[in-house]
Parts: sequence; C-alpha cells; structure tokens
Amino acid sequence: MAKMAASMVQSGEDAFRKIFKFYKRRNPPPDFCDVIDFSRVCSNKVLPLKLDLAAVSDVEAARVGLQPVRDWRAFGLKGYPGFIFISNPFLRGSQPFWVRQCLKVYPQKPNVCNLDMHMSPSDTQDIWGKSVHGLSFPPSGNRQPKTLLERLRWVTLGYHYNWDTKTYSATHCTPFPADLHMLSFQISAACGFPGFNAEAGILNYYRADSSLGIHVDESELDHSRPLLSFSFGQSAIFLLGGTHRQDPPTAMYMNSGDMMVMSGQSRLLYHAVPRIVPAPQGHTTLEMEGCSMAASLQASTVVESVSEEDWAVCSRYIQSSRVNVTVRQVLAPWQSFPETPSPHQRTDAGQTVGYRQADGESGKRKRSCSSDSDHLV
Ligand code: OGA
Ligand code: MN
Repeated sequence: MAKMAASMVQSGEDAFRKIFKFYKRRNPPPDFCDVIDFSRVCSNKVLPLKLDLAAVSDVEAARVGLQPVRDWRAFGLKGYPGFIFISNPFLRGSQPFWVRQCLKVYPQKPNVCNLDMHMSPSDTQDIWGKSVHGLSFPPSGNRQPKTLLERLRWVTLGYHYNWDTKTYSATHCTPFPADLHMLSFQISAACGFPGFNAEAGILNYYRADSSLGIHVDESELDHSRPLLSFSFGQSAIFLLGGTHRQDPPTAMYMNSGDMMVMSGQSRLLYHAVPRIVPAPQGHTTLEMEGCSMAASLQASTVVESVSEEDWAVCSRYIQSSRVNVTVRQVLAPWQSFPETPSPHQRTDAGQTVGYRQADGESGKRKRSCSSDSDHLV
C-alpha cells in the first residue's frame, strides 16, 4: 500500500488529483503510512528549522497563549523552501480560548459566514446562542435538526473574500479581530516576517466527512507576505503540492494546535485537505486541557479563561469537527486595490470537489468549482 501512493505519482497526468482521491476514499480506507507526522518526526524529508528567538519575547508569546519561541518545534520540508510547520506551540490550556473565539466570537456580525448567503441577518445574528441548547446534550435517538453551529462552513474576517469574483475589495471590509492579529503578528515575527499585518481571515469548519479541494491562495495582492494557518479540534490530512496543479503532493497530518506558514517559494503552492481524521489517541487532547487554565496564562492580556458552560459546548463540537483559520496580509504597506479587480485572483482547480465543498464525498456539490459560495449552505 505504501508503494501505492508512490506509483500513482509516477503515472503522471494528474498526480495531485489521484492522491487526493486516494486519501479521501472511504472503502477500503487508504493506508496512511506515507503521511508525515511532525509530532514524531521520523521522515528524512523533515528538516529542523531555526526560528528568530529574539523577535518575540516570552511575555509577548504568553500574552497570545504561546510557549517561549525557544521551545517551539519548527520544521521545514525538503523540496519546499519557505514552508514552515510548527508543531503545536500553544501553552497548555490556551487552545480552548482560541477554539471559543472561532466558535462563539468570530462568527458574530459584522463578520460574514456561509449562513448569511441564504438567511436573514437577524437569523444569523447569534449563531452561538441559537446553537448552545442543541449542542449541549448528547444526541437523542431521534434525529435532531442541525444547529446553526453545525451548519457553519466558513467565516471571513477583515477584507471579506468574495467567493464568486475570487477577490478582496476596499469596500467590503470590517475590523480584523485584534487578538488574532496579535497571534499572527508574533508567529510571523518568529518565522522571520516582522511587521505582518493580518488583514483577511478565512475560517473553515470541517465535519468528519468534509474536504477542501485543490487550490492556490493567490487573491492577496502582496505575495511576499506569508500565509498563516492554525488548526483546532480533529486532525486533517493536508496535501502540499507544487506550482503546477498536476505536481504530486506530500501528505502530512495537521493536528490541533499545529501551525503552517507558507512563505517565499511555498506561498503559491497548490494544496488541499482530502480528509479529516480522528485526533491521535494519547495526544494532548483539547478536552483534557478544558478549563484547567495553566498558571502561565494568568499574566496574559489576550487569552482569557473559558467558562465551563462555554467549554462544554466547544468540546462537544470539536469532538467531531475541525476548525482551520488562515490569516493573510492582502496589501503591502504602500499598496492599494486597483480600480477594477484583476480577473484571475484565486485558482481553484478542484474537480472531484469544489474548493469549498463541505458535504463530504456524497457529491452534494451543487455546482462545479467555478463558484464556491453555494457549496456551503
Ligand atoms: C484555506 C486552506 C487549509 C486547511 O483555507 O485556504 O487551505 O488546513 N485551508 O484547512
Ligand atoms: Mn488554502
């Protein structure tokens, strides 16, 4: 089976699509032995990476819930210059705060979400409040209607990504959350990108059968700035490809708390998430971290403790879901949007799934990948 992924690569044509399908397959399930696991590095493709230890003080790191930078385990990947993987750098007990922000705070107005596409503003006003009851109790025998939180597929922050035109615009922008801005600033600084300005965010909410099609993030106008990615909850198989859609990808696990930085030559590489997988057993589970806030968090200014009621809802949600946050700087400091947006900003090449398909492999996709907004209802 291990040879299988490799032989698919040699057969050329569309190696990425084949490997995507391989990992997405349910029956029979694929062999995961080729998937790089950064939490127990054993692959010769993985390179230890030195970060800028002076760029972020221990106090600044702790303020956003991060360990001192010298304790982070950061890696590069052979053949992917500019790609940085940081294996869960969060302080014990700080992930629940970020999960709570993703589920309770960031979906709030004025941020935009998939539910806004077909519901009135008053119906999507309080997604958390309207979902708390339905999510707090174990599911009963008879099927309950899905809560709004369970129907949430994406949220956009800052410059709101337009799924149809694949552009950002000066006119569709709301304040970027200060806490996430600060987290992004510190991560980028440690990775050698001081002065990162978080201007746009896309949160993806994955259920157990969700996937994310093959794409490149190129709508941002300044590609010299990195793209940051943070994940919480269940794990994912992440595929990192090349500059051409057909290039064979490398598969890796992304677990809760893990971060990726796509910069330099890796900023515009094709990538995808073919499958959500259960968080590894014995892994520092978020559930165990719960409300037992570490003493180290008490001095922090950004990361607040999460109430037991809130955590009950969050932990129930992430038992079967994954949340991914990507943060982007859209413009260079000297840059502004052109009068008319350029036509080809984001290259979505998913054929088996649309870029924003959220219904898993059952083929519930309503339209091809040319437009994404209606996949997410
Ligand atoms: C994205 C993205 C990856 C992930 O939102 O553009 O590539 O791990 N997300 O969910
Ligand atoms: Mn992406």
